[in-house]
Amino acid sequence: MKDLLDRALAERYGVAAFNIVNDLTIEAVLAAAVAEHAPVILQTSVKTVRMYGRLQLYGIVRALVRDVGVPVTLHLDHCPDRAVISDCLRGGWNSVLFDAHELDVAENLRQTTEVVAEARRTGAHVEGEIEGIQGVEDDVGSDDAAVVQSLEVAVDFIRRTGVDCFAPAIGNAHGQYRQAPVLNAQRVSDLVAATGIPMALHGGTGLSDDQFTDLIARGCAKVNISTALKETYLKAGLEVLRDAGERDRWDPPALFRHQRAAVVDMARHHIRLFGGSGRAW
Ligand code: 13P
Repeated sequence: MKDLLDRALAERYGVAAFNIVNDLTIEAVLAAAVAEHAPVILQTSVKTVRMYGRLQLYGIVRALVRDVGVPVTLHLDHCPDRAVISDCLRGGWNSVLFDAHELDVAENLRQTTEVVAEARRTGAHVEGEIEGIQGVEDDVGSDDAAVVQSLEVAVDFIRRTGVDCFAPAIGNAHGQYRQAPVLNAQRVSDLVAATGIPMALHGGTGLSDDQFTDLIARGCAKVNISTALKETYLKAGLEVLRDAGERDRWDPPALFRHQRAAVVDMARHHIRLFGGSGRAW
């Protein structure tokens, strides 16, 4: 993760981080990254880890990345549960987001420092968070507006924990935006200037092209996309199923092909938009 993000920060492009939900979406995202010759991040929510079981999910990822010739990293998204963090670190995840924003900052800092030490033992990296990102994603989070900490508190947290990446609340939110978001982009510039580490942009779905470009230029080297993948995948499925229902013809590969093509297009679009194309090494 650190290799991918430090390069992206230095060259000011964004690495797309897609919340994959199953084997088909993993394979489609990887195909998009290969087609764009781009590094990519596969993110798993805790819900997806629980749905498959850690061992089974890792086995699927492992099998699907085997012949992929671009840099890929496996990241655990928003996880407040230390047991799941430890399990994924032991089980081969390259990076984890320890989401302890519900704790007070001092306790969050203490526990995140432990998570960083634990991650280092397996060569893994850590994203830190001290402010909730608005919106519920895969059963984690809340619809309440985030309580934003001061720049001093955030910088102190980053320095003392040694996290590799940080997820700031800047007016962004998970899910579709109900109204156009007003973002505090300067906060990204201030955090990057003070700490030198890459920022993770959460709530990617629904931001404008200009917002992505501006935030990436300021240091959002990791750009999270979840809702767009889920909607693309399920709506593509719905199209095929409606047609199958009308014709009473049921062909699973036709469903999978259509969903795959839609997810590949969605992922390629975001990779290109974030400046990731041609950046693989
Ligand atoms: P969206 O669901 O808005 O794309 O946000 C993704 C995200 O930030 C995952 O943590």
